[in-house]
Amino acid sequence: LAYAAARHITVIPEIEMPGHSAEVLHAYPELLCQHAGKQNTDFCVGNEQTFLFLENVLKEVMKVFPSKYIHIGGDEASRKAWKTCPRCQQRMKEEKLTTVAELQSYLTERIERFLNRHGRILIGWDEILEGKLAPNAVVMSWRGEKGGIEAAKAGHDVIMTPGRYCYLDHYQDFPPSQPKAFGSYMPLEQCYSFDPACRLPDSIANHVLGVQGNLWTEQVETMSHCEYMLYPRLFAIAENGWSNSKTDFADFRRRALHMQDVWVSRGYHPFDLRKEIGER
Ligand code: ACM
Ligand code: ZN
Repeated sequence: LAYAAARHITVIPEIEMPGHSAEVLHAYPELLCQHAGKQNTDFCVGNEQTFLFLENVLKEVMKVFPSKYIHIGGDEASRKAWKTCPRCQQRMKEEKLTTVAELQSYLTERIERFLNRHGRILIGWDEILEGKLAPNAVVMSWRGEKGGIEAAKAGHDVIMTPGRYCYLDHYQDFPPSQPKAFGSYMPLEQCYSFDPACRLPDSIANHVLGVQGNLWTEQVETMSHCEYMLYPRLFAIAENGWSNSKTDFADFRRRALHMQDVWVSRGYHPFDLRKEIGER
């Protein structure tokens, strides 16, 4: 954190809830729903212990990370066990919630109030739009731009990171020529073609705080492979973020090649753009 702060970088932690929590629920199975199946990786939202646990974790996290924002995930919860868990059903009855998406919103709003009381702002993936959007939440739009646009129109700040343009775990060149990656394809030119403001009028585009590139590392086991997946596409994501008058791709590619050479001379391991096979 000190190294980042010295370079004007703020590190924002992401603590996943209510889904993607297999590791927590393995250690704390009492936070699972009653009758939860083996594949279940969601917290039980009907159980008060869930909130005690999450708030205690967030308290520790806030002690370590001074960032104004805390990301609470919110993506890809199956919400399946909630439909039959007596505690979740009881919670839905008490709170007059009719769908399990609203039950997720109950959790998000409650965690938002907790974070706000501690002077922090909640960020969540665009699934947090599905029930009722927590009043001060920042939406991170990954399943396309639609969620981000909807949230920005409703007056929320958003961060754009749509899969088609911002997922650095996807293949960056003709897949058979590449090390194993996530099964989708995002070459440099496609990455560079993204407009984070989505051609929205300024009054709405002003809610776009910026962009994010995601390098999920299931397939990435070394730092040099990490650098290979990041560069040169991260140059495109950066320019998408900071430039409001991007140049044509040919000009960008020329500059990316120069940056690639600088990176290599400094001992990094970028993808070799000169060997790109290109769109197929
Ligand atoms: C995500 O990629 N599941 C946010
Ligand atoms: Zn439950």
